Amino acid sequence: MSHIPVLLNEAIQVLDPKPGEFFIDGTFGSGGHSRAIQEKIGATGKLLAIDWDETNFKRFAIGDLRFASYAGNYADLPEILKKRGLPKADGLIIDLGFSSEQLSGGRGFSFGKDEPLLMTYSRDMKPVKEILKEVSEEELAKIIKDLSDERFANRIAKEIKEYLKRKPIETSKELAEIIKSAVPKNYERGHRHGGASRIHPATRTFMALRIYANQELENLEKLLKNLELILKPGGRAAIISFHSLEDRLVKNHFRQMAKVGKLKILTKKPVTAAKEEIAVNPRSRSAKLRAVAMMNYEV
Ligand SMILES: C[S@@+](CC[C@H](N)C(=O)[O-])C[C@H]1O[C@@H](n2cnc3c(N)ncnc32)[C@H](O)[C@@H]1O
Repeated sequence: MSHIPVLLNEAIQVLDPKPGEFFIDGTFGSGGHSRAIQEKIGATGKLLAIDWDETNFKRFAIGDLRFASYAGNYADLPEILKKRGLPKADGLIIDLGFSSEQLSGGRGFSFGKDEPLLMTYSRDMKPVKEILKEVSEEELAKIIKDLSDERFANRIAKEIKEYLKRKPIETSKELAEIIKSAVPKNYERGHRHGGASRIHPATRTFMALRIYANQELENLEKLLKNLELILKPGGRAAIISFHSLEDRLVKNHFRQMAKVGKLKILTKKPVTAAKEEIAVNPRSRSAKLRAVAMMNYEV
């Protein structure tokens, strides 16, 4: 399934890219946000696209974009700008998490598929199948609980470690089956939306393991601390998150920086998807967009 960009109009409206400006897309994915930005900055503008997953750039025809693209971690943006001799930017978009293409990209992001259990965006990160072997049962339970609020984290961690005594876990489907066997048969029934909707028992654990393996919260924290090194005075940043822990990091950091006069918050409340968008793209249901503008002085 091809990736539909989330909160696209809302992001463009708040970022307000103008002809000739220099923008950075720190999570290029399938280039949905990049394309819309490029239309606004026009032929005199410049776009730097970064994605940690180098295969993203191979998969898509990007010849029509007037831009420079590099495989890299958005947490390293100040170093990337320096290395490439690029100035601070007028705008930055960060659209967190994974793309729909990655979900079916053969790296185990989806528990419905029998794929190698990697769950990493970059080849440089340790795959989940290795992490599961290395952490203790207690550490594993804590990772799952802390990053996903899974109620049965202890049981799931125990089942995974028991299984690993017999054989390694090679595929995403294998892990999903182990998780399913660890939780009660009526998992989630009756707990959400009056019992009408249920989620697969592996959903939360997969999310927690993905966040852990890719150090997603650490990367986001680094990015937030680096904003002044990435954006010029008056530059705008929009961050789209899908997880309450991510949104809390963004919200708190923005508030602290606004308090000391370093930036202006452009979104009093997080912007969420309209019901029309949710109807065509269910992924947008949990999306929250927050945006800021840097104040007018150089650091
Ligand atoms: C939700 S998708 C972006 C979709 C994109 N906005 C679009 O419209 O097509 C998130 C992307 O961020 C990338 N990513 C995740 N963590 C990253 C990081 N630390 N640095 C750079 N890219 C990252 C993933 O590989 C994925 O392609």
